[in-house]
Amino acid sequence: MTAVRIDGKAIAAELREKIAKEAETLIGETGVVPGIAVVIVGEDPASKVYVASKGKAAKECHFHSVEHALSADIGEAELLDLITKLNEDDAIHGILVQLPLPDHIDEAKVLDLIRPDKDVDGFHPINVGLLTSGARDKAMVPCTPAGTLILAKRAIGNLSGKDAVVIGRSNIVGKPMAALLLAESCTVTIAHSRTQNLEDIVRGADILVAAVGRPQMVKGDWIKEGAVVLDVGMNRIPAPERGEGKTRLVGDVDYDSAAERAGYITPVPGGIGPMTIALLMANTLTAARRKAGLDDLDYAELLG
Ligand code: GUN
Repeated sequence: MTAVRIDGKAIAAELREKIAKEAETLIGETGVVPGIAVVIVGEDPASKVYVASKGKAAKECHFHSVEHALSADIGEAELLDLITKLNEDDAIHGILVQLPLPDHIDEAKVLDLIRPDKDVDGFHPINVGLLTSGARDKAMVPCTPAGTLILAKRAIGNLSGKDAVVIGRSNIVGKPMAALLLAESCTVTIAHSRTQNLEDIVRGADILVAAVGRPQMVKGDWIKEGAVVLDVGMNRIPAPERGEGKTRLVGDVDYDSAAERAGYITPVPGGIGPMTIALLMANTLTAARRKAGLDDLDYAELLG
């Protein structure tokens, strides 16, 4: 079998366009302009690229967008003060603090201070609790898992009863991804760096989500014939063929060999990454709509 390549880039562009239209309608009918604040601390080059993409997408969606770029040596108290101000700012519906934060800042303290209704990352304990206790509709759902789920559903429709394996147990991807797949009635296994017989576990997966951060770790012969393979990995590896010192981006899955067995597979780049940003826009629009007393939109349905 040769897998169908899931074009996350095109699907994300389509979703951003629908969100832009919905934002225009919201602005026209209520005067509410969805507002997002993105906070970045330090100079991590990858984080800077992500944050710039988020700002650009927000503007294209007609949102009010502000970026706070803070020096790596900023004190924790100063960052907490900024969060408090953004919590109180009526023009801001969504707050995102780009992770990771420098070691001298307590990440949990920062994330816990963000108002849950403005927590467009879905990392606040209230949102984590809502998602895992079956109240997904009231939660803010983390963007990467939410985008990954949309792609899985577009590929095969109903996920009920499927064997899903998530490699990675991070708060950003692995754990919320498992919660979402469980809510879709998958039988979910969470594998991680200490998992024994990983290959055998992956071989049982109808749906595989790889989010470990190890370049091309998952090999083609681990993949069940016809499986849906969703690669969240974003790893830079040396690419001497492109010139001295050059690098290229690869996923956690060895794409070429996996594509020979999978039914559907996301590429890196151009798969999950663009969906993450589109879902951040979706969450910001949701936050603004909730504040205006409007119902949530179903973004999978919006995509048609
Ligand atoms: N760093 C890597 N992924 C993410 C994400 O989804 N949200 C935030 N805030 N930081 C990240």
